[in-house]
Amino acid sequence: MATLGFIGSGSIGTNLARLAVAAGIDVVLSNSRGPETLAEAVAELGERARAATPEEAARAGDWVVVSIPLAAYRKLPAAALAGKVVLDTINYYPMRDGRIEVLDSGRTTTSELVQEHLAGAKLIKAFNSISDHHIASLTRPAGAADRTALPIAGDDAQAKASAADLIGRLGFDIVDAGSLAESWRFEPETDPYAVPYSADPDAVRAFWTEVSEALRSGTMPQTPPPVDAGVPLPAAQLRTLLAGTPRKLTAGRLLA
Ligand SMILES: NC(=O)c1ccc[n+]([C@@H]2O[C@H](COP(=O)([O-])OP(=O)(O)OC[C@H]3O[C@@H](n4cnc5c(N)ncnc54)[C@H](OP(=O)(O)O)[C@@H]3O)[C@@H](O)[C@H]2O)c1
Repeated sequence: MATLGFIGSGSIGTNLARLAVAAGIDVVLSNSRGPETLAEAVAELGERARAATPEEAARAGDWVVVSIPLAAYRKLPAAALAGKVVLDTINYYPMRDGRIEVLDSGRTTTSELVQEHLAGAKLIKAFNSISDHHIASLTRPAGAADRTALPIAGDDAQAKASAADLIGRLGFDIVDAGSLAESWRFEPETDPYAVPYSADPDAVRAFWTEVSEALRSGTMPQTPPPVDAGVPLPAAQLRTLLAGTPRKLTAGRLLA
């Protein structure tokens, strides 16, 4: 019996929890407001699901998905996560998370920063470069011809293999993008980020541009984010995108 813990049970957390339950994996959800606020999500997921505190979700998990805004990363329970394989979906959005100089300057990556806080954990960056709705629509059984590949990065080979096994069970192939220091290759707005999984890349870029212009002028964007069924991204194509992408520091991004 395997258990996947969640710290953060919003869009990404719940989409991954659905895939885990479908794969016969038990899930323990948690958030910042307390287990009672997750009753609806637990009811929807069924008997394989329960809600707990972040510490309990961390201790219960054979793997733990950390899926919260970066601004809260110092609140992650480092002691409870020590020794665990932690899948980090977090992206840095200064407009949401506040400015972090070591990320703006490129001195480190988001996942290295989180790993520094979770010193005893084995961090794997994963699921940060695909939109929440494409997690739901692009999952495929092992061996399917149109399986989608996702990049992962990490510093511990055994943890990487364990995360790859989990991600395979959730319905995706993986491409190893290297160490956490290399994980900038699939941070926001790099070539492998979000757009290659979209059936309408122009709509995604147009949305980012609209949000960027709205941020600059202090208004709210009028258009909701585009949602589509997605397109499968084969591993070979993802490898090419990872190898060729320039780094996108926040100063060169639309959404920052
Ligand atoms: N949405 C996407 O398409 C997408 C794609 C790739 C990566 N990401 C990244 O993945 C992360 C999660 O994104 P999301 O869209 O799932 O966000 P979301 O829907 O806003 O959910 C965030 C979750 O984090 C929880 N949380 C916040 N602070 C916490 C804390 N201190 N301890 C425990 N839980 C805490 C929230 O719980 P409360 O509501 O109780 O505060 C909520 O369950 C972000 O870093 C995001 O940039 C998002």
